[in-house]
Amino acid sequence: MNVGTTIIKCRHSVRKFKPAPVEENVIRDALECARSAPTAMNLQPWLFGLVKDRALLSRIADLTDHGKFISDAAVCFAIFGEKRAKYYLEDCCAATENLILALQSYGVGSCWVAGEKKGYAEEVRNLLGVPATYTLVSLVPAGYPADISLQKKKDTDEITFTDTYKAG
Ligand SMILES: Cc1cc2nc3c(=O)[nH]c(=O)nc-3n(C[C@H](O)[C@H](O)[C@H](O)COP(=O)(O)O)c2cc1C
Repeated sequence: MNVGTTIIKCRHSVRKFKPAPVEENVIRDALECARSAPTAMNLQPWLFGLVKDRALLSRIADLTDHGKFISDAAVCFAIFGEKRAKYYLEDCCAATENLILALQSYGVGSCWVAGEKKGYAEEVRNLLGVPATYTLVSLVPAGYPADISLQKKKDTDEITFTDTYKAG
């Protein structure tokens, strides 16, 4: 058994949270993992917001279309990308997944909530006072899970090929 891959395979989106706070050392370590992600030309074109204020969490939740559960999260990470970096989207997505997996390794559940392609991206940025040179890439509400639903995944053989692709 491999601890790293087990953590990855055990991750599921969590949208119902217990009221318990997430410990500071866990948040700090998760942020360290986020900033350890690979980035094109090592630009690290990101800014990580940490929202704990309950009124702010509710306001972010209200702005989203499919993130109303953000209001019940212990904390919500807001990942912003620096727009002038060509690959900010890929870089910030890598950081987002690192963050989510780090939280998972501590038993903290979370859910990736869409950012950049949503109409609320600018509203969230303004709400948090982030400069316009950045854009919201993702929101990651997190907390200890109160409920987890398991989604079916495609089989490995169905979605992989070796060397050249053969249809059917
Ligand atoms: C780019 C991206 C955007 C997502 N946006 C939302 C969202 O707005 N609201 C939500 O509830 N889940 C969102 N999700 C989570 C997906 O719904 C979830 O990952 C998918 O259903 C698979 O479930 P799993 O994470 O448990 O494997 C998003 C995931 C990704 C990668």
